[in-house]
Amino acid sequence: MAKDKTLFTCTECGGTSPRWLGKCPSCNAWNTLIESVAEAGPGKNRYSGAQFAGLAQAQAVMPLAAIEATDIARTPSGIDELDRVLGGGIVEGGVVLIGGDPGIGKSTLLLQALDALQRAGLPTLYVTGEESGAQVALRSRRLGLDHSQVNVLAEIQLEKILATIESMQPAVAVIDSIQTVYSDQLTSAPGSVAQVRECAAHLTRCAKASGVAIVLVGHVTKEGALAGPRVLEHMVDTVLYFEGDTHSQFRLVRAIKNRFGAVNEIGVFAMTEKGLKGVSNPSAIFLSQHSEPVPGSCVMVTLEGTRPLLVEIQALVDSGGPSPRRLSVGLDKDRLAMLLAVLHRHAGVACMDQDVFVNAVGGVRISEPAADLAVMLAITSSLRGKALPQGFIAFGEVGLAGEVRPAPRGQERLREAAKLGFSVAVVPKANAPKKPIEGLTIHAVERVEEAMNVVRGMG
Ligand code: TYD
Ligand code: MG
Repeated sequence: MAKDKTLFTCTECGGTSPRWLGKCPSCNAWNTLIESVAEAGPGKNRYSGAQFAGLAQAQAVMPLAAIEATDIARTPSGIDELDRVLGGGIVEGGVVLIGGDPGIGKSTLLLQALDALQRAGLPTLYVTGEESGAQVALRSRRLGLDHSQVNVLAEIQLEKILATIESMQPAVAVIDSIQTVYSDQLTSAPGSVAQVRECAAHLTRCAKASGVAIVLVGHVTKEGALAGPRVLEHMVDTVLYFEGDTHSQFRLVRAIKNRFGAVNEIGVFAMTEKGLKGVSNPSAIFLSQHSEPVPGSCVMVTLEGTRPLLVEIQALVDSGGPSPRRLSVGLDKDRLAMLLAVLHRHAGVACMDQDVFVNAVGGVRISEPAADLAVMLAITSSLRGKALPQGFIAFGEVGLAGEVRPAPRGQERLREAAKLGFSVAVVPKANAPKKPIEGLTIHAVERVEEAMNVVRGMG
């Protein structure tokens, strides 16, 4: 076989250059050329090797109605919270990407899952590029998985990994991590965008052709995740991200893309000395313990996925310098700026000369706009130095005109809050239940200023 030549391809326009240039010669975009492999000859695509034979056959064209809609067969991983985010289990030939900060528990969770699958009688393969076989063994002992039959391969060269998967045909193979794998075809270093993309593309095709489910582990890099899992999201079937604070006990695994299930479903785990344990009733873990209500804290009910979760939003407003700071952890920063403007314009609460910090407790990330009202109430509470009443919750989206918009499935959120002993709620008018909920006093509001007045009246 002729040796493939390296080539540099523009990620914007697809133009090519034989050498690396700062500017794409075709579309003049800067810094978009990445290394790729030139095809060896006409009609000889580098993906046409024996391992891709399943893809090479031409398929007959059929009307949609004539194609049998077979349900996807899923194999439960044996870890309930992981199955929940996967949409029921691992799918044959499916490719899952698990991203997250280093040390958050990716390797731990996958080793536990592989062991459970292996115990259920499925052949599994764990390819480790970051740790030696001995280190993986040490971890498995620590997890209490003595006598584990999971097959381990310490290898980082893509071609050898593919050959092993081909010959062994496991049900599930984990590649830990994709950033350590390199292909001989490219000269760039492992972990570069070119290598990560090329290796993931090969592994994905291998999964589709052989029916082996492949899980890719990816680290989120500090520099905006350039060479991290982000560049792979479009290639794979399912994308899961670990959230949570490495210093706290709890970890969230969130599905942000799933061709085989619902997105935004979350799995909740607690890190123990025996590995990750699923938390089946997680609604109250993201609340901090205050013996007395404190200023700058407001609890909201978020509903991403199928389970409601109570999360405490904290705000600190403090006099700032000439250019005050706005900082948010776990919440969108642009949205914070917007909410501060709405607060000023429609409720007369001015923070122009103040530093504003907001935080979602426990390292959880909230992307739904239903957090708006809680963020605004926490900010106002901190600014005035007045705590919200005991047992208070709020949720609702706030628009630029100062209107409070309903959150999806409001009743469910309210019921969960009542179940956990919360007694006062400020919610959008459209979310107010027709029948009263026992133990919960509900104030339905249509506008931000109304919400502020309700809270002031509680004072
Ligand atoms: P790890 O799975 O190695 O993280 P990642 O693969 O995402 O980089 O996570 C390891 C962290 O979890 C590490 O800091 C030690 C801790 N840990 C426990 O607390 N209990 C355990 O049983 C294990 C195996 C790890
Ligand atoms: Mg790891």
